[in-house]
Amino acid sequence: MSVLRPHAAPSEGTDLRIVDGLGPYLRLDDGSTILDAASVSAPLGHRHPELVEAIHRAAETPSLGDGMNWFDCEEVAAELLTTAFAGEEWAAAVRFALSGSEANDLALSLAQSLTGRQALVARERSYHGAFGLGLATTLHPLYHGGLASRQRGWKASTACTVPVRQIPRPTHDRDLKVDDAGVALDGAAAVITDFGSGLVFPPPEYHDLIGRQAHAAGAIWIHDEVVTGLGRVGHWFAFQRGGARPDIVTLGKGVTGGAAPGGVVIASARVLAELGDYRWQTVSTARGHPLTLAAIRTTIRIVQREGLVSRAAQLGARLRPELEELARRHASVVAVDGEGLLWGIELRGAAHHGAAVWRGDGRDPQLSQIVVDAALRHGVLLSSYGALGVTVAPALVIQDNQVGQVVEAIDAALQVADRAMEA
Ligand SMILES: Cc1ncc(COP(=O)(O)O)c(C=O)c1O
Repeated sequence: MSVLRPHAAPSEGTDLRIVDGLGPYLRLDDGSTILDAASVSAPLGHRHPELVEAIHRAAETPSLGDGMNWFDCEEVAAELLTTAFAGEEWAAAVRFALSGSEANDLALSLAQSLTGRQALVARERSYHGAFGLGLATTLHPLYHGGLASRQRGWKASTACTVPVRQIPRPTHDRDLKVDDAGVALDGAAAVITDFGSGLVFPPPEYHDLIGRQAHAAGAIWIHDEVVTGLGRVGHWFAFQRGGARPDIVTLGKGVTGGAAPGGVVIASARVLAELGDYRWQTVSTARGHPLTLAAIRTTIRIVQREGLVSRAAQLGARLRPELEELARRHASVVAVDGEGLLWGIELRGAAHHGAAVWRGDGRDPQLSQIVVDAALRHGVLLSSYGALGVTVAPALVIQDNQVGQVVEAIDAALQVADRAMEA
C-alpha cells in the first residue's frame, strides 16, 4: 500500500482495479467491462481519439508556465468565449487554473481583493473544492478535509479563519426567502453557488434571487460550473436555466474532457472594469499548460460539433420519468432529482448517516455503497455521494441502449437497498 486514497485508511485496499477505458466503458483487471455512469470528469468518454491526438501534439510543444506568453492561451480563451459562451456578452475574460478547486480558490480570493471584504457565502451542503477558499466554502459536513476513523470519530483540518455564512438549500417545503439571502450577503465579498453539489439541485429562481441579492449588497456572485459546464445538464452552463447572470463562472473537471488536469475562471465585463489597471498578483507554474489548453479546445469543438448539449437535454428528458418511476417503486429512495445527464438519488437510511451530519466516521455499512456495489454487479459504475446519496452521470456520448442499461442496473441495485433497509 503506497497510495493514500481518499476515504480509505492505509490498511484498507480497494477491490475495483481499473486498467483501461474506451468510450463510455471501463475495463477491469479481471477482463470484464463496465459502463461508466460516474463520468463527470470524462464527458466525452475515455480515450477519445481526437483528445488523445491533441494531447500527443501538445506534448511536442515547449513546457511553459503561467505568465509566459504561449500563443494558444489567447486563442483557446477566445474560442471558449465565442463558442461555449456564445450569446453571453457579459463574459469578458479568461484565467486558466489547475483544477476546479483552484479555479474556485482564485475566484473567491479575487472577489475578496476587489471588494475589500472578507466574508463569503455558500449554500448548505455545498462542495467547492479540496483546499483554500474552495474548501472553506464547502459546507457539506462529509468533505471537511480532516480525518475520519472507523473507531475513533473524526478530526477537523486546520480551522479556516475566513468567515463563511450559510444560506439554506431549497427544499420541497421551503424556498430561499429574500431575507435569507439578503442578511447573509450583507457586507460579504462573494456568494458561491452551483447546481448539484451535495445532491442539491436548486430551481432557476433560487439562483436568480441570489444573483439579485448579491448585486444589491455589492457582493460578487460566483457560479461554480465545475461539474455542470460544457453541456452536462442540457445547457452549455447550468446558470442558463435562469435569467440572472453571474459575475464569475468557474470550470474544471470535464472542461478538459478528462484528458488533462485543468480549470478556468471566467470574469464578467463588470469584474474586468473593477480590476481596471490592477495587476492580479498570483502565479502558479502549470496554469494554462499547453496540455490543458489543447484538451480544452478539443473538448469544446467536439461538444459543439456533435451537438452534445442538446443530446444531454434529450436524454435527461427521457431519464426523468424513468428515474422518478424507480423512486416510486423502491422504498429505499427518498427522492431523485437532477437534469440532463446529472442525477442524484437520495436514499432512506440511518439518521447518523444523514447528509447534514455524517463526517465519514464509524463502521456501519453505507447504503449508498451497497447500491454502488450492487450496480457494479450489473455492469454499471455509479458513484456514492455521502452515505445516503448516489450520483448518476454517464458520459455525454452515451447511446440510448446504454441509458437503458444504466436504468436497469439502478433498478436492480435499489432492490438490494430495499432489502438491506428492511433487514
Ligand atoms: C461542484 C464542484 N466544485 C468544485 C469541485 C472541485 O473540483 P476538483 O476536485 O476537480 O478540484 C468539485 C469536485 O468534485 C465539485 O463537485
